[in-house]
Amino acid sequence: MNILVTGGAGFIGSHTCVELLERGHQVVVVDNLCNSKETALRQVEKISGKSIQFHKTDLLDREALDRIFSNESFDSVIHFAGLKAPGESVSKPLAYYQNNLTGTLNLCQVMSHHDVKNLVFSSSATVYGDAAEIPLHESLPVSSSNPINPYGRSKVMIEEILKDQHSADPEWNIALLRYFNPVGAHDSGLIGEDPNGIPINLMPYITQVVIGKLDKLTVFGDDYPTPDGTPLRDYIHVMDLAKGHLAAIDKLTSDPGVVTYNLGAGRGVSVLELVKAFEKVNGVTIPLQVGSRRSGDLPTSYTDTSLARKELHWQAELSIEDICRDAWRWQQQNPHGFS
Ligand code: NAD
Ligand code: WQD
Repeated sequence: MNILVTGGAGFIGSHTCVELLERGHQVVVVDNLCNSKETALRQVEKISGKSIQFHKTDLLDREALDRIFSNESFDSVIHFAGLKAPGESVSKPLAYYQNNLTGTLNLCQVMSHHDVKNLVFSSSATVYGDAAEIPLHESLPVSSSNPINPYGRSKVMIEEILKDQHSADPEWNIALLRYFNPVGAHDSGLIGEDPNGIPINLMPYITQVVIGKLDKLTVFGDDYPTPDGTPLRDYIHVMDLAKGHLAAIDKLTSDPGVVTYNLGAGRGVSVLELVKAFEKVNGVTIPLQVGSRRSGDLPTSYTDTSLARKELHWQAELSIEDICRDAWRWQQQNPHGFS
């Protein structure tokens, strides 16, 4: 298939491009590089031995997007492009809604104009908010009052927009994929997560402490109602997540309409468990201190994996140890990220 990947130079997009190329698909990437580097795509080409057509294009530029569609015949689109920092979205709500909503609207209008009607969308477990039931499953109610920040609300709104588009034109097939906590890196060490500035997320923070760029990890609270007092998350290896997208693309060929899947490993791992696993598998020590809770953090978030297993025939295969080993290999081989 010929697949357009928006945001393909980013963390999850680049790893998914590897899988797509290795399964024989052709890949065209559209990315404005606002949170990534083109080097990531060159590394993807090195891993796969195949080439990627890249357009440095902003989804907000509808005419430029339209020109790309005029010159290509796409079977499906995987839509990763978006701004993703929950905290930043609180201080810059307009930028988040403009980028994430308008970008998606432009993409769908151009798709519609060119009769491309298969879409995989990057949603997030954040759409569940502070749900009463754990593990989280796809039939839990989702509304824009669930997430506590504009980033999360942009995901709920986009899910609604896409459902409306399917109602208006039932020929559309849409997979809404709600990711849990993507971490790790390709086992070549050639691509991985390369955040700008000081990392917000736990795994890149850990790897930057161990490489010596940061002094120590602050554990945000150890008084949660969990076995060791630190929050439980569903860390999923980014290559497992990438494979989930291939399964979703396959699913869309069966004409399912709108389908929603949680993509997680289905295990709740605490901050301290992740720290210990990282130390053990990599033979390192992570200096840490316990600080206060981070505003908005939930005690527990992990998924019920049964729907994805049943309908996508997909489940995460890689362990927490694989995740820790691969994240550290990437950081060691690229102490300053992509150059
Ligand atoms: P990322 O920032 O590494 O990748 C996103 C890519 O989109 C970047 O390369 C960026 O340059 C590009 N982009 C952003 N706005 C654009 C625009 N207007 N036009 C063109 N390109 C644009 O993020 P990621 O971690 O790979 O996440 C990918 C998607 O998955 C995002 O939509 C994110 O919200 C979602 N998601 C991520 C996580 C996570 O923890 N990483 C969890 C749940 C959902
Ligand atoms: C994990 C755990 C922290 C950093 C975020 C977004 C979510 C989704 C995935 C996009 C938490 C603790 C962290 C640190 C710590 N993204 N922590 N010290 O918050 O589960 O989810 O990424 O959709 O929307 O909110 O991930 O990696 O930031 O935190 O103790 O320096 O690590 O408190 O318990 P989170 P995270």
